[in-house]
Amino acid sequence: MAKTVGIIGGTGGMGKGFAMRWARNHPILIGSRDAARAAEAAAAYQKEADAIYGVQTDITGGTNPEVAENSDILILSIPYGNIDATCAGILPRVGDGCTVVSPIVPMEKTDAGFEFIPMKHGAKTSHESVAAHMRDGGRGLVSAFHVISEKKLANPEVKLDYDIFVCGDDKLATDEICGFISEIEGLRPILLGPGKLAYMAEIATPLLLNAMIRNKMRNPGIKLV
Ligand SMILES: NC(=O)c1ccc[n+]([C@@H]2O[C@H](COP(=O)([O-])OP(=O)(O)OC[C@H]3O[C@@H](n4cnc5c(N)ncnc54)[C@H](OP(=O)(O)O)[C@@H]3O)[C@@H](O)[C@H]2O)c1
Repeated sequence: MAKTVGIIGGTGGMGKGFAMRWARNHPILIGSRDAARAAEAAAAYQKEADAIYGVQTDITGGTNPEVAENSDILILSIPYGNIDATCAGILPRVGDGCTVVSPIVPMEKTDAGFEFIPMKHGAKTSHESVAAHMRDGGRGLVSAFHVISEKKLANPEVKLDYDIFVCGDDKLATDEICGFISEIEGLRPILLGPGKLAYMAEIATPLLLNAMIRNKMRNPGIKLV
């Protein structure tokens, strides 16, 4: 069944990836702080998606609050440092049945490499930070997509063969997002557990990036075998 997928920060690299991969089956709303930037990105993604899939996709743009109000699934594709400023204005506006997804990685670059901000500074994980702004306390929040590179996601012609860790407290919501992950050919959802374990998925990104740099790899992903 088609569901409207809204992407907050949809003008960024990951936002394009989500839009391009799900536009074949679902209407997509691209959100931005700037409506004109959202419309421009949406038009460009739609042109590219139509050409690749050979069908007319439905990708439109709007402000972040407009997108939050009109989405069945809402992806928060924004940097960690902007969670509070962005979520305070939009998460109280989502519909009751809306599932919120966080791919947000709390990570910083230091002389040592990429480090995990919650461990280094005692700060909240992304999952905890987002949950604090939700009317249901984060029950409808699912953390996923931390270990797939935008470079791989943004071009549907690139073949994928990766696992995506999924954490959340509500079975209906995690099942729904696992279904959306499975719709993307070559991605397999791997449940890790409840939201309080989301830090394990979030920390996998600095792990991957450090391995990538030290071992001269290009945009690695994770696959459990
Ligand atoms: N890049 C990857 O390969 C990758 C992989 C896994 C997970 N992630 C995570 O996915 C999320 C999105 O990644 P990304 O690389 O697409 O991020 P990004 O390009 O840095 O930012 C995405 C969008 O967020 C909005 N934004 C930027 N600064 C903001 C601010 N100060 N306040 C509110 N909105 C702001 C911008 O949209 P507007 O200016 O249009 O509002 C921007 O296009 C991040 O949390 C990242 O950690 C990324």
